[in-house]
Amino acid sequence: MSCDEKVDCGRRRLLVATAAAGGAAGVVAVVPFVASMLPSERAKSAGAPVEADISKLAPGEMMTVEWRGKPVWIIHRTKEMLDGLAKIGDKLVDPQSEKQMQPEYCKNEYRSIKPEIMVAVGICTHLGCSPTEKFKTGAESGVETDWPGGFLCPCHGSTFDLAGRVYKNKPAPDNLEVPPYKYLSDAKIVIGEDTTGA
Ligand code: FES
Repeated sequence: MSCDEKVDCGRRRLLVATAAAGGAAGVVAVVPFVASMLPSERAKSAGAPVEADISKLAPGEMMTVEWRGKPVWIIHRTKEMLDGLAKIGDKLVDPQSEKQMQPEYCKNEYRSIKPEIMVAVGICTHLGCSPTEKFKTGAESGVETDWPGGFLCPCHGSTFDLAGRVYKNKPAPDNLEVPPYKYLSDAKIVIGEDTTGA
């Protein structure tokens, strides 16, 4: 099965990994029961939260960290970028992120805990391609003459704004996923768990 089909490729990889781990458990069936119940170090690290140091992430910049095999984008939005988010709500499918099961802290127009810092999984919600950063505005972006900055999926043309919100009339049905995350300090974010215990 290829990622061209309408599947959650990230989830499929996880399922494949789970199946492989199940096979390994069968091989070591003679290990005492309690020991066999412990997750391997590898399995734990595959799903473990990851820390990101954002102390050097300047306004207008983006960094990517890997969590559970997925790219997670962290974007330091400028004031201009934030101001632009408020003006395009009517062009978006779900401007307040009400449609999906998403963390409560992303149910606002910024889709984030702190307005200036965006955290989102960089996988298109159509068929799982990786959208391309298009932060330049207007015609210079190569997207649209009134483009306010965001992301363009190269596979079938879905567009997302700088909060990962999908535009109407595009193949992607949903906003980009916001993973669970929390701040350890102003400079450090943990991705993969939040204050609700998710
Ligand atoms: S995968 Fe089809 S638009 Fe992104």
